[in-house]
Amino acid sequence: MLAANINDYRTLAKRRLPRFMFEYIDGGAFAEATLRRNVSDFEELPLKQRILDGVGETDIKTTLFGQNYSMPVTLAPIGLAGLNARRGEIQAVRAAQAAGVPFILSTMSVCTMEEIRKKTDPIWFQLYVMRDRGFMKAMIERAKASGCTALIFTVDMPVPGIRYRDMRSGLSAGGPIARRVKRFSQVLARPGWAWDVGLLGGPHTLGHVSSAIGKRAGVEEFWAWASRNFDPTVTWKDIAAIRALWDGPLIIKGILDPDDARAAADVGVEGIIVSNHGGRQLDGALSSIRALPSIAKAVGDRTTVLMDGGIRTGADIVRALCMGAKGVLIGRAWVWALAARGEAGVAHVLQILEKEMRVAMALTGAARISDLGPGRLDLRSLRELGFGN
Ligand SMILES: Cc1cc2nc3c(=O)[nH]c(=O)nc-3n(C[C@H](O)[C@H](O)[C@H](O)COP(=O)(O)O)c2cc1C
Repeated sequence: MLAANINDYRTLAKRRLPRFMFEYIDGGAFAEATLRRNVSDFEELPLKQRILDGVGETDIKTTLFGQNYSMPVTLAPIGLAGLNARRGEIQAVRAAQAAGVPFILSTMSVCTMEEIRKKTDPIWFQLYVMRDRGFMKAMIERAKASGCTALIFTVDMPVPGIRYRDMRSGLSAGGPIARRVKRFSQVLARPGWAWDVGLLGGPHTLGHVSSAIGKRAGVEEFWAWASRNFDPTVTWKDIAAIRALWDGPLIIKGILDPDDARAAADVGVEGIIVSNHGGRQLDGALSSIRALPSIAKAVGDRTTVLMDGGIRTGADIVRALCMGAKGVLIGRAWVWALAARGEAGVAHVLQILEKEMRVAMALTGAARISDLGPGRLDLRSLRELGFGN
């Protein structure tokens, strides 16, 4: 099948991945209402078609944290991404950098930042709040030594969300032997993945965590360690402590409330990411696009506002920028493509989004990023739909 859009890549990923891997990527928390709304609220958001504006060439170049990028899109941090294709994170970083957009590496990645840095330009790094503050400090030192150009601090996982699909697939529930047998049978049903990733893609460990837990442990032990070590006692004081250790751009990921956004700006972070972790944490929380306008209004220019959750088309990126974001992150979109076609798939997804974004801008009469604002949306319908405040 030829992939024409992001959802086609989802279909291809489902055919290629063992079930537990596909469900891990695709799923969300509890009843997945927030996950669904992340997507459906975008679809509902009405763009205003404008004609005869003489738009000409569209310019979507962007500057974020002092660096120039080809478009306002960043690859979001994804745990275990490296299991979607052989040494998957390296393939994805290459695609992102060839396209001129940033890549954020998860703490829970398979490839380490050092392994990636040997083969690519510097990346952005995402850190979780772990109980072991020594581990966090060491990670910040490693990020500095690897030349990482921004630190993203994810704050919406003080405890891991409950995801029923992972329980049913054999990833997180059942006895250890039953789980292994279940997953093994799913791997046998996907020989392409079993060969490319299972046999040739090792080591299958969470690279950054292996120093804390031992190199021989499997993904399951690593995940159990990580889950035990997410820290529910974290406060703004911890953010201030990290601020003191990191003098590059510091970005807080996982904000959905204007008061929290103001507090982040008060601590002096360079950026925030409006996010509900792709609907994987608090089911019932607002969709990201619905949360965005009041947050953008609350912080104004005090910090750079990015958003993620539910971006499936270039038109969604246009909508997010109209609602006050300076840029977006894509999560599942790039991982599905990585699973389906490796580096070439991720490169293609970025091309698709770029093309779709330019067309949506031309049809709304916007020639450049700075033209994107509430005026490109149908404000009357917006109020009826209850967006913005
Ligand atoms: C499989 C998967 C793993 C994720 N792992 C991480 C992670 O390690 N760190 C993090 O900050 N966010 C993580 N996220 C959240 C993403 O960074 C991002 O917020 C989300 O995927 C955006 O929604 P979208 O998938 O609809 O684009 C993960 C999301 C998915 C789908």
